[in-house]
Amino acid sequence: KISYYNGEFKQDADISIDYNDRAFYFGDGVYEVIRLYNGVFYTLEAHIDRLFRSIEKIGIKGIERNEIMEIIAGLQQQNQISNGYIYLQVSRGIDGRNHSFPVNTPPVVMAYMNTIESSAAQNEEGAAIITSEDYRWLKCDIKSLNLLPNVLEKQRAVEQGAKEAVLHRNGTVTEGTSTNVFIVKEGTLYTHPADNLILNGITRLSVLEIADELEVPVKEESFTLADLAAADEVFITSTTLEVLAVDSVDGQAVGEGLKGPMTMRIQEAFQKKTQ
Ligand code: PDD
Repeated sequence: KISYYNGEFKQDADISIDYNDRAFYFGDGVYEVIRLYNGVFYTLEAHIDRLFRSIEKIGIKGIERNEIMEIIAGLQQQNQISNGYIYLQVSRGIDGRNHSFPVNTPPVVMAYMNTIESSAAQNEEGAAIITSEDYRWLKCDIKSLNLLPNVLEKQRAVEQGAKEAVLHRNGTVTEGTSTNVFIVKEGTLYTHPADNLILNGITRLSVLEIADELEVPVKEESFTLADLAAADEVFITSTTLEVLAVDSVDGQAVGEGLKGPMTMRIQEAFQKKTQ
């Protein structure tokens, strides 16, 4: 497999990472995960737009959109992958360990592609989730490499046999550790507004578009843990999981305990978009 690090495409085995890359010391960088279906990147522009918003928000300078597009094209050309994903990160660059930004140091891009199994079969079943306190920072709209709280809470979920930990701030549900969260109540879809407390998922945006097409009422309003527990349906979304039904929250069944009709309609519509 051919991957990319700091200006060069190489076989994975031949890539060595500079230990002075600020991504290591500080998680000082941002990233994207973009899905490829049948040889076509899904919502590529939206991902690149969000990457550059993240880049701008943390003040990384010296990287252009066409560089990123060329790296993506290069990876696609050199790897025979038509159903998979690309992981792409941009760090502030390579320098000695100083908290302050290096001067005249170019950013470093790392990127690779991998195959991924179709989520459709996997998403037939619902998943268990747990709830956890959201003790992350207040700039969750930035797709930062700093994911320690996300990693810790995801692991807590895994250790309890759950797929995801859904986070809350003082009882207000924000998002999952690597997903956005939707609930259905009396035919209306609710999800946290796209502010600084969540990452505005591209899959989240696809679902909102689908809801609009299906004329499903949507409220981009925050909801509570009690609302989550009492929801008719719950599902989570991400580039890698797509639209995944949640059948239990903290061990309590959601709704009737079966995948709900709204979740099914949205899953179907999402699959059509990605085929
Ligand atoms: N995670 N919220 C968080 C905190 C995320 O990390 C992600 C994505 C999402 C969903 O965003 P999108 O629909 O654009 O994938 C929401 C990626 C997939 C990851 O870290 O692997």
